[in-house]
Amino acid sequence: MVQKAPMLLIPGPITLPERVLKAMAKPIINHRGEEFHTLYEKVEEGLKSVFKTENNVYIISGSGTAGVDMVFQNFVYEGEKILIPDFGEFTGRIVENALKIGAEPVVVKSEWGCIPSLGSIMSAVENNDVESIFIVHNETSTGVTFRLIDEVASIARKRGILVFVDTVSDLGVEPFYTDELGVDICVAASQKGLGGPPGLSFVSVSGRALEKGLKNPRRRSFYLDFEKIHRFHLRRETPFTPAVPLIYGMAEALEILKEEGYEERVKRHAENARMIYEFLESENIEVFPRDKEYWSTSVIVFRNKGINAEEMIRRLYEEHGILIARGMGKLRNETTRIGNVGYEGRVEIEYFLNSLRKVLKDIGGKS
Ligand SMILES: Cc1ncc(COP(=O)(O)O)c(C=O)c1O
Repeated sequence: MVQKAPMLLIPGPITLPERVLKAMAKPIINHRGEEFHTLYEKVEEGLKSVFKTENNVYIISGSGTAGVDMVFQNFVYEGEKILIPDFGEFTGRIVENALKIGAEPVVVKSEWGCIPSLGSIMSAVENNDVESIFIVHNETSTGVTFRLIDEVASIARKRGILVFVDTVSDLGVEPFYTDELGVDICVAASQKGLGGPPGLSFVSVSGRALEKGLKNPRRRSFYLDFEKIHRFHLRRETPFTPAVPLIYGMAEALEILKEEGYEERVKRHAENARMIYEFLESENIEVFPRDKEYWSTSVIVFRNKGINAEEMIRRLYEEHGILIARGMGKLRNETTRIGNVGYEGRVEIEYFLNSLRKVLKDIGGKS
């Protein structure tokens, strides 16, 4: 039986093109041989052009969370003060990561749907001896993008503070220039804006972060030990058996990205997001994040006020073959999330919005 692929408009994973699926079905190769070295190098080169970096980009077999874990296990020291803006589910996980390795998180909170002000972040930097800052660029639970990295990174640079960024849910969707911004570590994952299959994460590391990681007196993880990861990276390998089919899939996804062009891809996603936000406005549906300036391009979150969200999601899936996502964490019942991280363009988004319009009408729309 051939299973028809649904249109996944969740915040990743995405519906994959045939080309990527076929690439993952290639015969398995020896991960210590020349063929793998070439594959690894090709993927790293492709990633560098999306990360916009000259830094090494390490390939980790493990989802985005493994990439974030790798950062904490190696680049944040026990007892170190690390500043974390906390404004949603994923920023909350960053705080948990810091606590797990015995670091001292300096948390600057804002309510969900907003971001902490630059002033509050600056005063936290001034009043605490922080050695690093960890920012989630796109908070997937609330649909908020932290568009102040440039400002925060320039404060950090003046004080010798390292800047770590999680771009898991929007690299390849929202413009992000790792080197220009002066970001020391950037973490991304395969299954969202980079157009690949689920299961890999990628971590770029600057020279000064690399030095700090290698000098860490207490790297606790055996599997995610950066010293080993770096040593094997130099010969285009990973310390342990990598997920070869996923890496093949990723190589193909990066090839497609190259063909489309980075600028074009960013433009396509911006246009998709514009169409979706305009639709919500026309239906009088309230967008969750408060201020337009940080509305996310990759995850559009709206309030369920007057909408039977469960019914809406079920009907969209069963009658139109489109999947969107429930709210996340404490927003599960209050909001719905639309992912805009895949291969869809104008035609697919029009189909989605027409379907959504019909479903809303059928279930009594908004009250
Ligand atoms: C911002 C952010 N960080 C980290 C993660 C964790 O990634 P994964 O589910 O690939 O482990 C996600 C997943 O959605 C995310 O959106």
